[in-house]
Amino acid sequence: MPDANTVLLRALAARSLAIIRAAQAPSGAYVASPSFPVYGYSWFRDGAFIADAMSRAGEIESAEAFFDWCAGVLDARIDRVEGLIDRATRGESVAATDHLHTRYTLGGQESDAEWWNFQLDGYGAWLWALEAHVRRHGRPIERFLGGAVLSARYIEAFWREPSYDWWEEHPEHRHVSTLGAVAAGLRAASRLPGVDSDLAARFGTRADAIVETLHEETARLGYLPKWLGGDAVDASLLALGGTFELFAPDDPTMIATVARIEAELVHAAGVHRYLDDTYYGGGEWLPLAGFLGLHHVASGRPDAARDELAWMARQATPDDLLPEQVSAHLLAPDRYTEWVERWGPIATPLLWSHAMYVSLAVGLGVMAPLVASER
Ligand code: BGC
Repeated sequence: MPDANTVLLRALAARSLAIIRAAQAPSGAYVASPSFPVYGYSWFRDGAFIADAMSRAGEIESAEAFFDWCAGVLDARIDRVEGLIDRATRGESVAATDHLHTRYTLGGQESDAEWWNFQLDGYGAWLWALEAHVRRHGRPIERFLGGAVLSARYIEAFWREPSYDWWEEHPEHRHVSTLGAVAAGLRAASRLPGVDSDLAARFGTRADAIVETLHEETARLGYLPKWLGGDAVDASLLALGGTFELFAPDDPTMIATVARIEAELVHAAGVHRYLDDTYYGGGEWLPLAGFLGLHHVASGRPDAARDELAWMARQATPDDLLPEQVSAHLLAPDRYTEWVERWGPIATPLLWSHAMYVSLAVGLGVMAPLVASER
């Protein structure tokens, strides 16, 4: 018999699945937040982690509907992507505004609204989620393959470029979490069944070279920085270990990175993005508590991982909705109100928060994945 606490944690995982299912569009797109107008779009980054959670939970159809959506977005832009890759091959510079967007309408169209669009991580992250899914469930890949290979060739062509980071900021830098998602995506593409063997070898070699670049960067500092050449950390770096598995959890680089993140960015179990964060005053982000929890799972520290899960659960609204971030300990309290006035209250529910909760709950065995007869 599970204890009462586990029963509550499990119930929230089941509610999270229902919330994600209800917010998935017929197109397969996952809206970032159904109730926060600015997030009424589908992001490759958020969606990759949401699909990954659904896959871990055994929600095969939901995950595959999202992968269909991703492949469809890419397939529909094949000429454009080939054009961009050609320009990169010829050594031409490509303006940020010429690149693929980071978020699309649920129907897969670009939005006219201005946004910080040039972000490469999502085009890698969904490949990582797709390959893990295909392996986990032994599923056929054919219908996703064209879009997946195009996505991999796109990030392979532009991986060196500075771009907006996971938080859609600092386009002047080369972000380590973005490089991590790109390397994880290329490594995944190199392992997808059906990819031409020369291409697969090329993707694998590039992924290794990017990881090597990250190792060289850590030789300078001993830990992974937020961007190449910098020395601050960012909690999104947690994904490079227990999630993308580019660094083993006991790799001294990962240990040093996590130690620094814990010392600077973790308050009790809540995790801030980075020290200078001012968005909604710089609160503690639920998706990041999930990444920290997954790192603890990978490191064989289930108690610490469970603390993260329990912390996330404590942030739920009375109707079980998980927000993007919470404001009990703000890094920049005087910057909170301006965002509420600009965009409204903090995005709640955020599907990415529910997804990380589910992934961690499955990782901890708090929730068992659905088996075929339950689907
Ligand atoms: C975050 C992004 C996220 C988007 C949608 C932004 O505020 O910085 O990481 O993809 O919201 O959830």
